[in-house]
Amino acid sequence: MLKIAVFASGRGSNLQAIIAAVKSGELPAEICLVISDREDAKALSRAEEAGIANKFIDPGRFQDQAEYEKALIAELNKAEIELIVLAGFMRILSPDFVGKYENKIINIHPSLLPAFQGLQAQKQALECGVRYSGCTVHFVDEGIDTGPIILQAVVEVSEDDGVEELADRILKEEHRIYPRAIKLIAEDRVKIEQGRVFIEDDSKAVNNVNNPGPAAVPSPQR
Ligand code: GAR
Repeated sequence: MLKIAVFASGRGSNLQAIIAAVKSGELPAEICLVISDREDAKALSRAEEAGIANKFIDPGRFQDQAEYEKALIAELNKAEIELIVLAGFMRILSPDFVGKYENKIINIHPSLLPAFQGLQAQKQALECGVRYSGCTVHFVDEGIDTGPIILQAVVEVSEDDGVEELADRILKEEHRIYPRAIKLIAEDRVKIEQGRVFIEDDSKAVNNVNNPGPAAVPSPQR
């Protein structure tokens, strides 16, 4: 069973979706650890309620980022983590950290990357006037919201949308595709070649999900 750690800074609704997918048996993974950089993160109480080990590691306690990340690494080693899942983790990990866990860190971002990287992606989308936005699950590399794309889902933008309405609709899709992306990794079906993700035997994945929907956009097939 794939051992995962979830890093989250806030509300933790993606964490909750992953917990639900594990509980239902749909996602063959074990959430061994939830780490937050914020003591008041709802993600921590969600983990506690689900009986998952959870830890607030205060970045302010360390003299620099390298020391902070050493503490993260110690926890990850202790729990023998195989995949780090960033779910609303609002800190940038150093190139050293990312290099140590090459292709072992994934992130979800509320836009169709590479559009609207960085903060307030939904607001950026509205201001740009795009007709479609969505969300992206991707491997984390040294850039910000870059790295090979695993899955995306498309959301239509309405002219009446405010940031919250759009964010809510995108979030629903996040909850659907994040567990699915982790499942693909757990099943060892995600391969990276020259910066692109190829999903092995994706026809099976589509048949296996409850509601793949026309909006699910798998990466190109080999
Ligand atoms: C999600 O919308 C996620 O895509 C976003 O933060 C939110 C966390 O919600 N992440 C980023 O913007 C990262 N660049 P959650 O705490 O309820 O899962």
